[in-house]
Amino acid sequence: MNAIAYHLDPLHGLAGLTVREQEVPVPGPNQVVIKVRAASVNRRDLMLMDGIYPLPATPDIVPLSDGVGEVIAVGDNVTRAALGDRVTATYFVRFVSGPQRLAHVAEQYGANYNGMLATYAVLEEDSVVHVPDHLTDIEAATLTCAGVVAWAALTKPAPVGPGETVLTVGTGTVALFAVQYAKILGARVISITSGPDKAERLHKLGADETVDRSETPDWDEKVLELTDGHGVEHVVEAVGLPTLSKSVRSAGYNAMITMIGASQLPKGQPLENPFVGPYLAIRRIAVGSRDDFEAMNRTITEHRVRPVIDRTFPLDQAVEAYRYFRDDNPFGKVVITMP
Ligand SMILES: NC(=O)c1ccc[n+]([C@@H]2O[C@H](COP(=O)([O-])OP(=O)(O)OC[C@H]3O[C@@H](n4cnc5c(N)ncnc54)[C@H](OP(=O)(O)O)[C@@H]3O)[C@@H](O)[C@H]2O)c1
Repeated sequence: MNAIAYHLDPLHGLAGLTVREQEVPVPGPNQVVIKVRAASVNRRDLMLMDGIYPLPATPDIVPLSDGVGEVIAVGDNVTRAALGDRVTATYFVRFVSGPQRLAHVAEQYGANYNGMLATYAVLEEDSVVHVPDHLTDIEAATLTCAGVVAWAALTKPAPVGPGETVLTVGTGTVALFAVQYAKILGARVISITSGPDKAERLHKLGADETVDRSETPDWDEKVLELTDGHGVEHVVEAVGLPTLSKSVRSAGYNAMITMIGASQLPKGQPLENPFVGPYLAIRRIAVGSRDDFEAMNRTITEHRVRPVIDRTFPLDQAVEAYRYFRDDNPFGKVVITMP
């Protein structure tokens, strides 16, 4: 089969995703070329498609930040990867370590650098990350965005630990990774979800308690009850403004609320003042660095973590994969596999 790449023409919905033949790329200095084996879809890929992501997609870009492949060519000066290595890439093309700067977030695979929805991808050497050996290609293709942001939320500026309670909101892939990592870090986990099936799967993943928001719309009160009135120490707020007020009311004194979710309030609905309860911190974070990614991978390896996969699609059904991810409320990652 010939090599192919999908290209995104933003603001045209799924019709903006078209496929073309792809030449085998030649790496420049400090670049590697991978033959992609699998890639996965994130919420940001829909936002890029719809033109509501903070960084506009370059028209005609190859989408998707998350993927895994085998190195098939290396450019001059490359020392961080060799032919045959199984690698992925960081979300930001050049965010290696230390505090995040605005310049880091301005360069992203699948937005303004060609991403993973193709037979071949060109990666800057600085962004290359080797993936844990025990993961299948499908699993290893899911770590870059949701995996790393959940890890950064729970380990920066200081890791959560025993004696602390982490609240996760929703069952998107960020929250699912967060449940797994919080348990490994020794914390108790309370998870908010929307039904008994998802609650059962959260328990299997490690959640200690779940609260069904369809049965208990005032779930913040239940979280307070479960924490003897103290509130939780950490919130992984993986929905956004619609749930922020309840997250604040679920939190205890000096808690850390990490805002990851980008959902906005319905038009005309004002945001409740979040600064009325206990003294606490609310911060927004954007994924993480290569150092974060590699630290996460060491933990994934040590604890044999397996990302939750909902469904896979072959490359020639990539548009269907996007549609399924957008419309069918998956529990876990939606992955596209390459022939
Ligand atoms: N800042 C970053 O670096 C970063 C990185 C990755 C993702 N994100 C953002 O983080 C968010 C989560 O992404 P994701 O891919 O993990 O998940 P997602 O697919 O956006 O999460 C959807 C889940 O959230 C819950 N939910 C949705 N609306 C809700 C509401 N109004 N109230 C309560 N729960 C609600 C539902 O779970 P239940 O049915 O279980 O309730 C739903 O299945 C997105 O907004 C994404 O853009 C940010």
